[in-house]
Amino acid sequence: MASERTLILVKPDGVQRKLIGTIVSRIENKGLNIIALKMLNVTAELSKQHYAEHVEKPFYPDLESFITSAPVVAMIVEGPEAVSVMRMLIGATNGREAAPGTIRGDYGSSRQMNMIHGSDSVDSAKREIGIYFTDNEICSYGVALGDWVC
Ligand code: PPS
Repeated sequence: MASERTLILVKPDGVQRKLIGTIVSRIENKGLNIIALKMLNVTAELSKQHYAEHVEKPFYPDLESFITSAPVVAMIVEGPEAVSVMRMLIGATNGREAAPGTIRGDYGSSRQMNMIHGSDSVDSAKREIGIYFTDNEICSYGVALGDWVC
């Protein structure tokens, strides 16, 4: 089972609704390691880098205006198959369609204000982690209890 890293953002609506702690808990309760974490303001330039594949899409101006509207919390989450595990925990893009029990399914009802971003592949994760974090901001650590995931 491959250990992976994924880039997670608590988006502006998650920060403003005071769901940072809830989202961090959901990630930790799942058994994944948060190995980097910071709050920042996403600039228009950073948004264009992050969402490069969506820049030409009709919804991009709304996406940029939303993601730059208030601070976000960026995290790197590490663990076995962390990319797909986090995508399952997060749920479908549109909160109205996301299954109950997922983060978006439990707290969201919008496609734009959907609280949380998670990388969609290992390659995207590498690219996005490089956009948000420098190597010296990453504190990878093991689990003292041993290998409790099989
Ligand atoms: S696509 O076109 O199917 O690849 O897009 P999707 O994967 O559904 O969404 C990609 C990200 O764009 C955001 N999004 C929007 N933002 C604002 N307005 C509209 N209409 C909109 N539609 C999609 C969506 O929340 C996704 O953000 P991330 O951060 O990647 O989850």
